[in-house]
Amino acid sequence: MMDRRRTQVWKVSAVPGANFESIDEAIPVLQAAEILRQGGLVAFPTETVYGLGANGLDEEAVARIFAAKERPADNPLILHIGNMEAIYGIVTEVPPLARRLARTLWPGPLTLVLPKAPHIPAVTTGGLDTVAVRMPSHPIALALLNAAGIPVAAPSANKSGRPSPTEAAHVIADLFGRVDIIIDGGPTGIGVESTVVDCTGAKPVILRPGGISLEILEEIVGEVDIGPHAWADGGVGGPTPLPSANYQHYAPNAPAVLVEGDPPSLFQCLTQLATELQAQGEQVGLMASRELLEYWQEQGIDPGKWEITCMGSRVNLGEIASNIYRCLRALDETSASKILIEGVPPRGIGLTIMNRLRKAASDQVVNA
Ligand code: TXA
Ligand code: MG
Repeated sequence: MMDRRRTQVWKVSAVPGANFESIDEAIPVLQAAEILRQGGLVAFPTETVYGLGANGLDEEAVARIFAAKERPADNPLILHIGNMEAIYGIVTEVPPLARRLARTLWPGPLTLVLPKAPHIPAVTTGGLDTVAVRMPSHPIALALLNAAGIPVAAPSANKSGRPSPTEAAHVIADLFGRVDIIIDGGPTGIGVESTVVDCTGAKPVILRPGGISLEILEEIVGEVDIGPHAWADGGVGGPTPLPSANYQHYAPNAPAVLVEGDPPSLFQCLTQLATELQAQGEQVGLMASRELLEYWQEQGIDPGKWEITCMGSRVNLGEIASNIYRCLRALDETSASKILIEGVPPRGIGLTIMNRLRKAASDQVVNA
């Protein structure tokens, strides 16, 4: 066993969707797979966020994940697999709708909740009789999972309560000295976690919105319900609670307010709030779109006194999704005492973005 206090960071370059450029590239991945098999902790990139992996069948290894992250023990983990067939070693049944979703969307940012096989330890599933399964599409993740040949339990590789990591630097900041290996595969592409779908009932239920939108799921399986904690507006309805719903989710150090609405009134409202807060002596931090920055320029507004982090363009919500966690971490590095977050339309991946931003704002929402 390695000395976890001496975390090693291994850089692996792989082009998403392509193979490793040379056999040398694969060697650290094979070594990391061996460390997983021996019960160690390996942080690795996926197409959504970095995961903190351990052998999902090994109770002690899984317990190490909870310890490293300081995660509440009853919040269940996702088991990651490197090929479709591996699902049959984890669940007792793959109902037709789950099969259709997996066949269409795996590998990819979709997690299916299914009845668990008896040999999956309770520590992995938080004592539930279901298990969450996902086949990620990142080439490093796939290579690692197939080389390990075991289901790999992997929550996001952040300390509990911190934003999910989209770069190896974020994992290093949170978990250095607590894990064996951090595989640095560069920034993750999607930047928000997988969509978690409960497939144990007659109709699929989104427990957590993520990288796959409601609209895409409905194209594949027809009507899909949205669980009580999955809405971007904090609404309730639907039968299945998310086990993690009771926990303190990430909120920045400074109190944050999410501002919803459409431009231009959205931009006017954000500008007015920032001006007022500054007049009250607050150091204002802003998570803004490129369009808001352009609006200020056009209006001759000088945002120089505010701490601004740009999420990307409102016409490309995928770009905004890929930046929100990095932006939240960036604002925590500033002296901002109040944070204003620009909302986006809750459609497509926008539902996922708003779900995460609402949590970051601890449900403090203003309508423009
Ligand atoms: O994109 C992702 O899903 C990333 C990467 C690393 O794969 N993983 C991730 O894991 O976000 P984590 O642990 O941060 O979030 C897993 C979510 C939690 O909200 C948990 O409550 C839910 O999935 N979950 C896990 N098992 C479940 C189960 N059996 N029933 C219902 N929800 C479950
Ligand atoms: Mg997480």
